[in-house]
Amino acid sequence: MIKISILGSTGSIGTSALDVVSHLKNFKIIGLSANKNITLLRKQIKENKPKIVAVGRDGLKNISLIKEADVVLIAVVGSVGLTSLVNAIKLKKRIALANKESLVVAGVLIEKLLKKYSVKIIPVDSEHSAIFQCIDGRNPKELSKVILTASGGPFRNYSYKKLSAVTVKDVLKHPTWKMGRKITVDSATLINKGFEVIEAHHLFGVPYSKIEVVIHPQSIIHSGVEFVDGSIIAQMGRTDMRLPIQYALTYPERKISTVKRLDLVKVGKLEFFKINPRNFPCFELALSAAKISGTMPAVLNAANEIAVGKFLENKIDFLKIPKLIERAMKKHCSVKNPLLEDILQVDSETRKIVEEMI
Ligand SMILES: NC(=O)c1ccc[n+]([C@@H]2O[C@H](COP(=O)([O-])OP(=O)(O)OC[C@H]3O[C@@H](n4cnc5c(N)ncnc54)[C@H](OP(=O)(O)O)[C@@H]3O)[C@@H](O)[C@H]2O)c1
Repeated sequence: MIKISILGSTGSIGTSALDVVSHLKNFKIIGLSANKNITLLRKQIKENKPKIVAVGRDGLKNISLIKEADVVLIAVVGSVGLTSLVNAIKLKKRIALANKESLVVAGVLIEKLLKKYSVKIIPVDSEHSAIFQCIDGRNPKELSKVILTASGGPFRNYSYKKLSAVTVKDVLKHPTWKMGRKITVDSATLINKGFEVIEAHHLFGVPYSKIEVVIHPQSIIHSGVEFVDGSIIAQMGRTDMRLPIQYALTYPERKISTVKRLDLVKVGKLEFFKINPRNFPCFELALSAAKISGTMPAVLNAANEIAVGKFLENKIDFLKIPKLIERAMKKHCSVKNPLLEDILQVDSETRKIVEEMI
């Protein structure tokens, strides 16, 4: 039996992961963690009988230190997942990573730790799972570029003026994926795609100049890679996160899944467009933070977490999100090669600064 801890078990990824595990015969839930949703956590405890359960930020830290787990799925939202990721690497666990924010804020540090402890991250994010599948077994020298696809979110065809009037309800209506609230807002501002560029850079060691983002409204091609001979290999599937979650858990094997099959005739057409960066300043800010590197991505992420939270509480407008991030980034002088402590400090300072701005 493979023993698995699911951090963030009450979330969108966490609940899908529990569904996946219930259909895989050789997994046993050993740990579960949540933040506030105690009702759902109670139900999950009853059904899965985990040995360890944790609640809140401190609980999350403690559960990531347990030695019994063979696999740790990190599915919490936000940079709160960073310490768990560091702990899981140091304990040499097999890591299935959904929590992209930890790679955004501390990508260079995580890369170093993965090398030091000879640990591999198996991506859960559908785009990165796709890339991971496309390059598996290939010589990295054969890769000429990574092609990240983006649905474009609900406002793909909106003018900048029209964006000023969008409501929380409009933002939470994602056209192709059903996800947690924070990532749904991130998908509408397209900062999520910027995060994914940073994630791909650190996961696959690809320079930023070799990562292309393409709008693909149908979200059928989850991403792909181009090789030096010009051949493109891409991965397709339904928009169901149970597929990349299961692959991250069973890799390198593939097991039968309960996910509905993709009917290509029903899909009919696949379209691709360029991003219009003028409408998506958050995407540009993410690329800019990535290029500055050091502690700047931590500022980008912390400012975004606070701004998105306030937007979801109806305290700021949608277009205020990029403005707050930009102001926070302008105030910050990036520190090169930061330690974990530096990143955590910048993260907490930025949160305070952005709260004050609001
Ligand atoms: N959803 C998707 O389809 C998808 C796809 C790709 C990548 N991802 C990434 O996966 C991660 C999770 O996304 P999600 O959509 O599943 O988020 P979600 O539905 O909001 O769930 C987040 C989980 O984290 C827990 N949590 C939140 N704050 C916490 C804290 N301070 N301390 C401890 N636990 C905390 C929540 O607990 P409570 O429920 O108890 O509050 C919940 O279990 C994100 O990094 C996201 O970018 C998600």
